[in-house]
Amino acid sequence: MSLSKRRGFVFPSSEIYGGINAVWDYGPLGVELKNNVKRAWWRSMVQQRDEIVGLDAGILMAPQVWVTSGHVAEFSDPMVECATDHRRFRVDELPGAEDLSPAALMDPGIVERLGLTCPADGGPLSAPRKFNLMFQTWMGPVQDEAAVVWLRPETAQGIYVNFKNVRETSRKKVPFGIAQIGKAFRNEISPGNFVFRMREFEQMEMQYFVHPSAAAEHFEAWKHRRRAWYESFGVTPARLRFREHRPDELAHYAKKAVDVEYRFPFGWKELEGIHNRGDWDLSRHAAASGENLEYFDPTTEEHYIPWIVETSAGGDRGAFTFLMDAYREEEVRGETRVVLGFHPELAPYKVAVLPLLKKRPEIVELCHRIKDDLSRHVMAVYDDTASIGKLYRRQDEIGTPWCVTVDVDSLEDGAITVRDRDSMLQERVSADRIVELIGDRLAAAAP
Ligand code: GAP
Repeated sequence: MSLSKRRGFVFPSSEIYGGINAVWDYGPLGVELKNNVKRAWWRSMVQQRDEIVGLDAGILMAPQVWVTSGHVAEFSDPMVECATDHRRFRVDELPGAEDLSPAALMDPGIVERLGLTCPADGGPLSAPRKFNLMFQTWMGPVQDEAAVVWLRPETAQGIYVNFKNVRETSRKKVPFGIAQIGKAFRNEISPGNFVFRMREFEQMEMQYFVHPSAAAEHFEAWKHRRRAWYESFGVTPARLRFREHRPDELAHYAKKAVDVEYRFPFGWKELEGIHNRGDWDLSRHAAASGENLEYFDPTTEEHYIPWIVETSAGGDRGAFTFLMDAYREEEVRGETRVVLGFHPELAPYKVAVLPLLKKRPEIVELCHRIKDDLSRHVMAVYDDTASIGKLYRRQDEIGTPWCVTVDVDSLEDGAITVRDRDSMLQERVSADRIVELIGDRLAAAAP
């Protein structure tokens, strides 16, 4: 967290006003990292797959969508309130209640039976009640019941209500998928762990429409593909695992769910969810809207509601995971070197261009020329605000894979030094070749 703030990855939202709980802003480096994560996801899920297309639906949707999807009735967590300080807690986050089943978490006698008290001041807690996680607002000038709309708590519903539009216009045949990246909002009772659980966050979701008899097979395939995606961008395999949801913890829409979990410093937690949603969403939307959402298979002449296999990743949680997994400290000549060993595609800057002597205008000019050439293709940065040793350390700490140094000899022989972040090896190459060299290295690293 301290590196994130110090180097400009993540800042608390509205900090000059004391902040707002569970909302975070991405600084200059954070926005590059998160954009790179989203781009990498889009490339593997849409660009490189013939059967998946993209969508960008609105955050606000017809309120009926959330009634039909079950979110108005079901999208809630059991919560208790302290009688003295009026703080609210998720029951399953109270010490002693972590492993209870959903039914036990809503048991009216649970607080007494387990002797649960307020973790903040030890005060008495209320019986559990359901707390809906959706943010509510009003559309239009009149703030009454009829004008209530919700901020979407998942991007998935935007895909389901566009199922027919997308299928007809893209002429896709089952199995096919629709992918979307966008903001989602949840009024989490216990947000926390930095950007791990926020109230405003981004999701990267893909809904795969399949024949019901093939759903189990597609589910297995997507589960493995999604875990492999994190590994292909450098996440330590031993820190990833699958965890299947018990029947009593399944979300209201899920027939089966497996999380790809990551071993965060605060324990194994969900990084991404893979869900078999059956025909829950399309059948309900078809019934409630009166639209025919069946698929007709011309080869078998079968009409059916496709089942949905969903891969649901977090843009923020993904970026956070790549950031944490990349962090390492190592001893170099008796000093501690902090490195963010990002996969080059995810690194905020690919190249830093550094002058060895900033007092020599010809050196600075050549640096700017090189930086401008590189900037036509990749994110590059020029920095002359410290000694070369400090500049290298700074770039290591923000994960820049390559540093280019221009020195007095460069003016004579047109050669520059390229330093590798991980090996710290340096090599002399012709300045004219630098754009090609960085392009080759990025291509070589591509998953
Ligand atoms: N459409 C299915 C769905 O929304 P989910 O397991 O509730 O499933 C999917 O959420 C992913 O969204 C999670 O694995 C996580 O990466 C991200 N996510 C969910 N709630 C979040 C929160 N409060 N803050 C940050 N990311 C969150």
